[in-house]
Amino acid sequence: MSQTAENMSFPIVDGTMPDAVRVLEVRHWTDRLFSFEVERPQSFRFRSGEFVMIGLLNEAGRPLLRAYSIASPFWEESLSFYSIKVQDGPLTSRLQHIRSGDYILMKTKPTGTLVLDALLPGKRCYLVSTGTGVAPFASLLCDPELYERFDQVILTHTCREIAELGFSMELVARTKGDPLISEIAAEKLVYFPTTTRESYPHMGRITNLMESGALFDSLSLPHLSLGEDRVMICGSMNMNQDMKQLCLDAGLQEGANSAPGHFVLEKAFVG
Ligand code: A2P
Repeated sequence: MSQTAENMSFPIVDGTMPDAVRVLEVRHWTDRLFSFEVERPQSFRFRSGEFVMIGLLNEAGRPLLRAYSIASPFWEESLSFYSIKVQDGPLTSRLQHIRSGDYILMKTKPTGTLVLDALLPGKRCYLVSTGTGVAPFASLLCDPELYERFDQVILTHTCREIAELGFSMELVARTKGDPLISEIAAEKLVYFPTTTRESYPHMGRITNLMESGALFDSLSLPHLSLGEDRVMICGSMNMNQDMKQLCLDAGLQEGANSAPGHFVLEKAFVG
């Protein structure tokens, strides 16, 4: 890892370590958000929506790992991740300084509940995210199986400010331009971005917009129902909790890998 002021006192991950993966690219979206791409280990397989443990060595030379959703398609040669920068966060205060050519740690055991197998068949699939919680949906949106399973896919992304929507705006544009799925995505994918602290066409927390019916009205869709709707949720702990309650109130049941249901949720990593 490059010797910046922020990480000089920490041991460096090098390419000889068993879990080391090389960083290929880093992109800073805002002063709070960045994404990075790493080399994909040859035998590494994952299901769209899963996460892996990623990190660096701590001062004592031990792995400091956190769960990161894979934000790239399952068929791509590299792996992408999307992260918040927390200035005093144990991991991201340092991880935000990685550069192309550095090595980071990655456990190659993907897991998670935001997978299509954890959902029962339905008509529509809502992918509801706040902040970096949109990351797993970046992998799911590129999976043809999502569009095979559902007639309509609605991606909602809520951030404080417009600039923080950049990741999902680009993701949707890329998905609709991807030769593999452009046709089906153009027909089935609906994007509903909202902000809470800066003026924007759609404003407000997604929970409030669902509760009031404003979301459904503006998309000309019926309110959530057990018969037709499936929901994947990824965001902060509070958002997950509130969205979960909203789903339960609509009669939906939580699913898992072992017992598919009507909605699933995963906490976006922060820190
Ligand atoms: P708000 O600005 O009203 O707090 P953060 O950047 O803090 O992770 O937040 C990302 C987005 O998630 C913000 O727009 C924030 O709205 C929204 N949010 C935070 N808590 C909840 C919640 N309990 N339900 C729905 N949205 C939430």
